[in-house]
Amino acid sequence: MAYWFENPTLKALAPLALSTSIKGLTTIINIPTLFIGSNVFPEGPVVGPSTMDTLANRCAKKKAFIVTDEFSNKYAAKAARFLQAGGFTVETWPHCLPEAPMEVVAECAKAMKACEPDLIVAVGGGSVMDSAKAAWVLYERPDITELGLISPLDKLNLRKKALLAAVPTTSGTGSECTGAAVVHDTAAHRKIPLAHVELVPDFAILVPEFTLSMPPKLTAGTGLDVLAHAMDAVTTPAANEITEPLALKAIEMTFHWLPRAYKNGQDREARHRMILAASIGGIAFGMSGCHLTHSFGHSLGAVFNLHHGMSVGFFLPQTLQFCSRVTDKHLLICRTLGLESKNPEEGLIQLVAKVRSFLTQLGVPLTLKDLGISRADFDSKFDTLVKFAHEDVDCYLSPRPITAAQCAQVFRYAYDGRDIDF
Ligand SMILES: [Fe+2]
Repeated sequence: MAYWFENPTLKALAPLALSTSIKGLTTIINIPTLFIGSNVFPEGPVVGPSTMDTLANRCAKKKAFIVTDEFSNKYAAKAARFLQAGGFTVETWPHCLPEAPMEVVAECAKAMKACEPDLIVAVGGGSVMDSAKAAWVLYERPDITELGLISPLDKLNLRKKALLAAVPTTSGTGSECTGAAVVHDTAAHRKIPLAHVELVPDFAILVPEFTLSMPPKLTAGTGLDVLAHAMDAVTTPAANEITEPLALKAIEMTFHWLPRAYKNGQDREARHRMILAASIGGIAFGMSGCHLTHSFGHSLGAVFNLHHGMSVGFFLPQTLQFCSRVTDKHLLICRTLGLESKNPEEGLIQLVAKVRSFLTQLGVPLTLKDLGISRADFDSKFDTLVKFAHEDVDCYLSPRPITAAQCAQVFRYAYDGRDIDF
């Protein structure tokens, strides 16, 4: 069985199809309706148009199915009360697990089919939102048995049964604004990325208070995910005139607000700005894609069981350095951050220094060694590490094609924290 992301034609077309300058290809900009603020799930009278006006207008049956997990169940309860007050009948399914295992997704789809909702509401972090997206596909399309075969070029014809609302409880993945989802095929020991424009949720409901309980380490990890999405979204050849300013804004906001949210999780203004930054970054990379931070980070995270955001954030300096051989778009990031330089080389040095100091400020080590990976462990898993990174779908959108030998060299350099000089 060949997964959709193993198709060489897609690999060649992806960067072209997402940018806007190629005749004969269509770029689709698909963004959810966004509700932002502390009062989007009001429990009292509201002034002006409300979230409920929109939801009720679009969902005639008024039957909601909430997908969540044990951590976010308390926020799901608030969403449920709001929906019930608006006349929805609500069923909550609180059994999602980290990494969205396929068998759990299948269980969720089964419960969804029994409920027959016309509104699916995902309340949780990336795994919950991704599980809900995948279960939604199985609910809408019972004829689909292999999620990994769905190509971005297929017509899925979703929304015949239900719309999807995403309510994030972390500020990082951006899944509330993207058509991407990652599920875990536990039998094949493989992460399966899904990418389809129809998977962009209909509604993204951003409640800053839902992110207040994230501990500092999770705040840092999820925030670095935002930064990795946004920096890759600037330098990828798939960037376009709409995604680029959004990505730059997400970078500016993350540098400004993440340290405050990290230091004080109860800082509501910082939480508000970071949940926005995550969605802005999500809109940007959801359309233009991200690249090598995620190829290396996916591999590191899978092999050494490390947090996604921390793993992808770790590879920001290496990615910027490796790609600077073929693009000087890092200068756009420099300008956004107020880093003045005489030439692209000087800009790169300044930007990498700024990113490293940011990582240190957030408690992220700058070498794989300092991440606690022993030399023996690193050596024994090295081939897998390289293979996973080189085969990763996000390599498609790198401005600089990368070979397996170069992946290997990046990992070797990253172990000791050396600058990429090739
Ligand atoms: Fe990510």
